[in-house]
Amino acid sequence: MPACRLKSIKVAPALLNKYLVKPLPRQRINTIKPGENSDFRRTAVLPYNLQTLTAARSLHYSSRIILEAACGKGDFLTDIAAANPDCFYIGVDYAYPVILRAVKRAAALMLDNILFYWGDIKIFLKYDFEKTVFTQIFINFPDPWPKRKHHKRRIIQKDTAGLFCKALQQNSWLVIATDIKELYMYHNNVLKEFPQLVFMNSHDPFTIPYSGYKTAISTYEQKGEAAGRHIYYAVYKKILEKERFSF
Ligand SMILES: C[S@@+](CC[C@H](N)C(=O)[O-])C[C@H]1O[C@@H](n2cnc3c(N)ncnc32)[C@H](O)[C@@H]1O
Repeated sequence: MPACRLKSIKVAPALLNKYLVKPLPRQRINTIKPGENSDFRRTAVLPYNLQTLTAARSLHYSSRIILEAACGKGDFLTDIAAANPDCFYIGVDYAYPVILRAVKRAAALMLDNILFYWGDIKIFLKYDFEKTVFTQIFINFPDPWPKRKHHKRRIIQKDTAGLFCKALQQNSWLVIATDIKELYMYHNNVLKEFPQLVFMNSHDPFTIPYSGYKTAISTYEQKGEAAGRHIYYAVYKKILEKERFSF
């Protein structure tokens, strides 16, 4: 993981227990074989509070569980979580000082419907918690390293795009925002290989009926807007492959 320029801050252990999920050691994940019984995989691999998340799905959150990949300081996610107490939110970021700030913000807003996972999104998406758990996935300003030599670090790659697609429920939304045009086009190119993901809209995400979006703005979106940069939104809907022809 690349170094993060922010310093760590102090967060009370009780808050870390409530809001932060840490990954299991990589060696443990690697010992789980693809053919192993899925219940075993679920209970063996999932950190405890992610098991709670899957339980939440069948309880009062009905099926509204929303993921933000690379959530940074959590401004966007905590704001939409505060505005939508009937939905459950999970933010993933691998920079510890950054995710600590997200935890502090969730605590300041006294949220009960949010968790943060400290770790790589590529590992998170490999957890077998539920094959299609999320009703929306947001990826806001994912690429702080536009240089070519860093392209291998991009969150959307051919293999991870498949994991994002698998984690989405049918009729659910993947929403990506960036202020880098080349990245926006790159995402479109990678995601068009997935027939289940239909590109819906690129300029007006406000018209798409999913909860929370545009009632909040991420830190990098604020920076992009303040600098007068154009923001590129890409909205994809996951459908059954056979529905594709009826659009
Ligand atoms: C430019 S910042 C954007 C943060 C936030 N989404 C926003 O819009 O303000 C990119 C974030 O992606 C995180 N990140 C990059 N690659 C990641 C990965 N593979 N897994 C988890 N987090 C990642 C970085 O730690 C950083 O916090």
